[in-house]
Amino acid sequence: MAVGNGPVGVGIIGAGNISDQYLSNLTTFPDVRVLAIADVIAERAKAQAEKYGVPRSGGVDAVLNDPEIDIVVNLTIPAVHVEVSEAIIAAGKHVWTEKPIGVSREESRGLLEKADAAGLRVGVAPDTVLGPGVQTAKRAIARGDIGRPLFAQTTFQWQGPEIFHPNPAFLYAKGGGPLLDMGPYYVSTLVHVFGPVAAVAALGLQGTSTRRVQVGELAGQEFPVEIPSTLSVLIDFEQGGQAQSIYSTDSPLLRTGIVEITGTEGTIVIPDPNTFGGAISITRPLRLGQELVDQEIVDVVQEGVLAGRGVGLLDMARSIAAGRAHVATGEFGYHVLDTLLSIEEAAESRTFVAVESTLDQIGALDAAFDPFAATL
Ligand SMILES: NC(=O)c1ccc[n+]([C@@H]2O[C@H](COP(=O)([O-])OP(=O)(O)OC[C@H]3O[C@@H](n4cnc5c(N)ncnc54)[C@H](O)[C@@H]3O)[C@@H](O)[C@H]2O)c1
Repeated sequence: MAVGNGPVGVGIIGAGNISDQYLSNLTTFPDVRVLAIADVIAERAKAQAEKYGVPRSGGVDAVLNDPEIDIVVNLTIPAVHVEVSEAIIAAGKHVWTEKPIGVSREESRGLLEKADAAGLRVGVAPDTVLGPGVQTAKRAIARGDIGRPLFAQTTFQWQGPEIFHPNPAFLYAKGGGPLLDMGPYYVSTLVHVFGPVAAVAALGLQGTSTRRVQVGELAGQEFPVEIPSTLSVLIDFEQGGQAQSIYSTDSPLLRTGIVEITGTEGTIVIPDPNTFGGAISITRPLRLGQELVDQEIVDVVQEGVLAGRGVGLLDMARSIAAGRAHVATGEFGYHVLDTLLSIEEAAESRTFVAVESTLDQIGALDAAFDPFAATL
């Protein structure tokens, strides 16, 4: 099948935790049809197919060999993202992959080269940053609502995903950790606002060297922590602007989703970049000579239709049909990974590390983008 002749056939590989969100959204978008779902544990795929009325399920080949599927969603764990994405490209299908694009620069670059050579697209999560929250804030900043952006502050700290995830070891292994797991939301948001990253510095630490599963069948089981579980990060952007961020799974004090960007004329508070929308406000400077009154805080009205995970894939499907670039490109995902790995390296070396990759163009989603419209 070719994209552009009616709704696009979609397959899913990986029927774990996050597949519920993708399935519940993708099955409500008229421009896509979820035709098959696969997992190495075929019963998992079968159960999800039954739950969401997906016609076919099975092992990975059930998706890769399906001639009606044009785009495959890769919802496997980070360590196998590239291996699975490359199998999807080799099967002649476009890839939408969960973040990060891969766990190393080499494998991720190789994937992008193979996709290019095959004339196929790679799209990379998170697509939360394509939601009305971050996109409205991005437009407000671009039109000068806070003046010239100067610096950002982001916070993600809590006690860790083992309190809800039944199989959390991968979140503390290479390719995981608060930085690789949650950093994509914050760094993608910052890159949308400030442009590509030039250099980073960081300090990291490990609260404990092992953790325990808290819920589900494996509760009580101990697993190793292979990554820094707390990082303090500085980012220097190519076109000006700086950010400081904390990423931690060592703090019982939950403070997550905080993104504050200060410009010459105000500080904008952006909704949690791991969500699709929320309140946006701008705090204005107090003026000299003014009587002391409440500081002016202006609400920014969110533009766009609120949906959920799957929106980035939908933008990719529509963009393929229209022959234009999609927003969450493989290059964007690569630059985010390159930045995150540079942060890890900076924490190890305790020096500033230059980020080698850059981006020529960063797309934006139109405020009129409606996931629930039938356009194909
Ligand atoms: N859980 C969340 O809240 C969440 C949120 C956003 C993004 N994500 C991302 O989604 C991805 C999956 O996370 P999850 O929490 O669903 O993990 P999970 O462990 O619950 O599910 C992963 C699934 O992939 C399957 N799988 C593993 N290797 C495979 C392979 N080679 N071929 C086919 N299937 C394979 C596993 O059997 C499992 O069912 C990760 O990249 C994660 O970063 C997760």
